[in-house]
Amino acid sequence: MSQSPSFAVISGAQVHEAVHGHETEVTAMVEAAYRLHGEGATVNPDSYFLRFPDQPSNRIIALPASVKGEVNAHGIKWISSFPGNVANGVPRASAVLILNDTETGYPFACLESSIISAARTAASAALAAARIADARGDRPRRVGFFGVGLIARYIHTYLAANGFAFDELGIYDLSADHAAGFGEYLARTESGSIFIHAEPEDLVRSSDLIVFATVAGEPHVHDPAWFAHNPLVLHVSLRDLAPEIILASCNVVDDVEHCMKANTSPHLAEQRVGNRDFVAGTLYDVLTGKVVPPADKPVVFSPFGLGVLDLAVARHVYDQVTASGQLQEVPGFFHEMKRYG
Ligand SMILES: NC(=O)c1ccc[n+]([C@@H]2O[C@H](COP(=O)([O-])OP(=O)(O)OC[C@H]3O[C@@H](n4cnc5c(N)ncnc54)[C@H](O)[C@@H]3O)[C@@H](O)[C@H]2O)c1
Repeated sequence: MSQSPSFAVISGAQVHEAVHGHETEVTAMVEAAYRLHGEGATVNPDSYFLRFPDQPSNRIIALPASVKGEVNAHGIKWISSFPGNVANGVPRASAVLILNDTETGYPFACLESSIISAARTAASAALAAARIADARGDRPRRVGFFGVGLIARYIHTYLAANGFAFDELGIYDLSADHAAGFGEYLARTESGSIFIHAEPEDLVRSSDLIVFATVAGEPHVHDPAWFAHNPLVLHVSLRDLAPEIILASCNVVDDVEHCMKANTSPHLAEQRVGNRDFVAGTLYDVLTGKVVPPADKPVVFSPFGLGVLDLAVARHVYDQVTASGQLQEVPGFFHEMKRYG
């Protein structure tokens, strides 16, 4: 290699510019990444959780991944979750993502990645909602948001971009302030009726599409009877539902091995019954028609969150910023390049 490899830093403002208003493109990219993952054209090892004995609610997760095809990149997302930030007016999650060149291994970009993470999570949820609802033969018109922070807002945006329209929009959050704030946000973009529920049961029973985006560490919804109307559940926060609800539902996950870890609700259900028979399949199986989710049972989508999705969106952002001529390289980032000086 005659020249030093380049290294660029991409800000949150640049990421926002590349993804905002392009939700259908991002959803298509996420679908393509799921298909590559299903076809074996990815490497997606376990996420690594850095936890702190003296701060049990905080964590930083490393998600290494590699994607072939058009993405053609290796990389890693390094994402912190400090839920106490929210009370101080700072988002819970913060993240960077490093892209590595597949020929040399050299890192070539560092991207602000909380937006990439929120966008890929929302795109994945909306994609699952659309494909599962279409397979069941009905698009829900009553949505309920259970836990309403940044992720819930992104999921709402991606549902709308993917063709969902709602007559009724329900909200439940432990914090009345957060519920009111999300209600005001919805009122700015929606013409349907907006309800803030005081009881979680009311939200669940009155919604045909339920989005869980809390920060609960263990199940707090226990009664399968709340789900007797067979809703479609986007269980994005992964630890809200008691095993008895998981076991009474048709379960779709993003990756079975990944999902059966870290005390997610499916993991707790597996520990309860000693097998994984309650998992109908993956989202890839739904995309390919191998699994057809039924209409006469609750359907729960539990996405562990795959690093391959972050990588696919990050690669797209990098290409967009490069094409716009706005890529900011760090001169001399790699310096020690001559073998013997
Ligand atoms: N599966 C994935 O791929 C993926 C990706 C990104 C984020 N997430 C998860 O999404 C969740 C939400 O993230 P965020 O950034 O929006 O968090 P946030 O802190 O901004 O918002 C969470 C909201 O949930 C509320 N809440 C907490 N516990 C509750 C409970 N038991 N009942 C009702 N409301 C409750 C809080 O008051 C808050 O308003 C997190 O758990 C995060 O780990 C999952």
